[in-house]
Amino acid sequence: MTDVQRTLLLVKPDGVQRLLVGRVLQRFEDRGLKLVGLKLVQVDRALAEQHYAVHREKPFFNGLVDFITSGPLVAAALEGPNAIAVVRAMNGATRPHEAEPGSIRGDFAVETAQNLVHASDSAETAEAELALWFKPGELLEYQREIDRWVLAPAE
Ligand code: PPS
Repeated sequence: MTDVQRTLLLVKPDGVQRLLVGRVLQRFEDRGLKLVGLKLVQVDRALAEQHYAVHREKPFFNGLVDFITSGPLVAAALEGPNAIAVVRAMNGATRPHEAEPGSIRGDFAVETAQNLVHASDSAETAEAELALWFKPGELLEYQREIDRWVLAPAE
């Protein structure tokens, strides 16, 4: 049975500054994923530290928080079959030199510290991250005319 999931995608401040927001979001729309939430956010340190809390002890933590708070970013909620794995694969490996050409990082990034995008890595993380970045009511449910050509009919 199809596992329809929701996941968080961030286009980080480097993506906004490099004018890549439209091209990045276009890829997910082209793939067939549905945008169910979208906003431009100037992140404060409290939210950034919460988002990356599992990395608090890492040597790069402060630099990562500095970077993610350095300018506006775009937060998107994407929905679709296996959306968590699909979005992670489309982003490519965290370290851009390991990212496949054709992935976002493989096409547009060369530095881990400026790797353009973030996506949730599991169902538990996706639920927690979506709740962190979107208030209740900011995530929408709607049908698209094209869904009958993109999604398998409900069984
Ligand atoms: S680790 O060490 O393997 O657990 O880290 P990893 O899961 O690969 O990365 C966790 C997030 O930290 C970012 N990262 C870095 N930022 C700045 N500098 C360095 N050196 C660095 N290494 C990792 C990495 O991009 C991950 O953030 P997201 O937003 O999820 O991509």
